Amino acid sequence: MKQTVWHNLKLCAQGDPRHTVEDAAIAVEDGKLAWLGAVADMPAQYAPWPREDLHGAWVTPGLVDCHTHLVYAGQRADEFAQRLAGVSYEEIARQGGGIVSTVRATRAASEDALFAQSAARLEPLLAEGVTAVEIKSGYGLELAAERKMLRVARRLGDRYPVTVRTTFLGAHALPPEFAGRSGDYIDEVCEHMLPALADEGLVDAVDVFCERIGFTLEESERVFEAAARRNLPVKMHAEQLSNGGGAALAARHGALSADHLEFLDEAGVAAMKGAGSVAVLLPGAYYFIRETQLPPLDLLRRYEVPIAISTDSNPGTSPATSLLLMMNMATTLFRMTVPEVLLGVTQHAARAFGDADRHGTLATGRPADFAVWRVQSLAELAYWIGRPLCERVVRGGETVFRRNLAA
Ligand code: NIG
Ligand code: FE
Repeated sequence: MKQTVWHNLKLCAQGDPRHTVEDAAIAVEDGKLAWLGAVADMPAQYAPWPREDLHGAWVTPGLVDCHTHLVYAGQRADEFAQRLAGVSYEEIARQGGGIVSTVRATRAASEDALFAQSAARLEPLLAEGVTAVEIKSGYGLELAAERKMLRVARRLGDRYPVTVRTTFLGAHALPPEFAGRSGDYIDEVCEHMLPALADEGLVDAVDVFCERIGFTLEESERVFEAAARRNLPVKMHAEQLSNGGGAALAARHGALSADHLEFLDEAGVAAMKGAGSVAVLLPGAYYFIRETQLPPLDLLRRYEVPIAISTDSNPGTSPATSLLLMMNMATTLFRMTVPEVLLGVTQHAARAFGDADRHGTLATGRPADFAVWRVQSLAELAYWIGRPLCERVVRGGETVFRRNLAA
């Protein structure tokens, strides 16, 4: 039985900087939180346990990155250059570039090469205190290549100290071999790909890109119905480039989240509130495609829809490998507050992730997954730009990351 008391720390157990405990301690037994709170209140039974001194650092729940496409091959720097010259993201997609160009590279890559390239994007996230990450498929768009992506995602979760949940995003784009036959492709997604991959245990949730350059409301609904037949939770890329009513559809299907949402209207916000869906905002994509339409923060606040922040790590709209940078962007670009962005990468992100019972909050009985920050104020997590702040990551009570600090 392994027992440790972590002490000399400041505790932000809920991911909410308005509710913290200074001079706190955390008792961990066999990887689980046995007790946490103010040192002055610590029951006597923990006093003899071996101790680890955190020298006054801040402790938060391990961060949750609840929307990523980090498994893919290649990169799209040439397309970035085209966009800098004035071509829009949507135009590039219509010309057969965009997502489909990453599909070509991903189909061609071996599973090992895909693993190595994806691991290089996961590692910087882990060095920032991320202990849970959602990873989508969607650059295979055929059974074998979607399977390869999801297997790589699972393998990342096995090889790295992080909880991975996979999302099948077969309905991400129309593969070239189905040009002009999007209904047939949706048949393929619903009747073959999803059932086969679910049977193989590779799918934890199902996502759809509902957009003019993605799939229609009717097509999206068919995918959601197929997910329901498998008892799989759903989520949606909705209202990213236009207001199509996707978020309301997702809400009707009890979605974990609707994501992007720059063009979301009040009816969509109200529907999300009614369904308890999380609004996942992706400031990296907003920034990188130079969007000017802001997500409706005031409406989301008024309806008290929980808001999460994520990297959307992907080669086309957000080649990001830093969740802290997304927190900074969410404050500066979206004018979110520090408590909002911190909750957005902990408690609210864990809801969108689909496992709020184990992630995003530190409480007795839960896994001892936490991040240790060498900062004076938690606001610094959103304040610094590109500065490594995470000193240590503890997962299941074990230190799984430590920044090299001069002795
Ligand atoms: O989240 N919008 C659709 N999917 C991704 C972008 C994918 C890509 O361009 O490769 C997103 O923005
Ligand atoms: Fe995305």
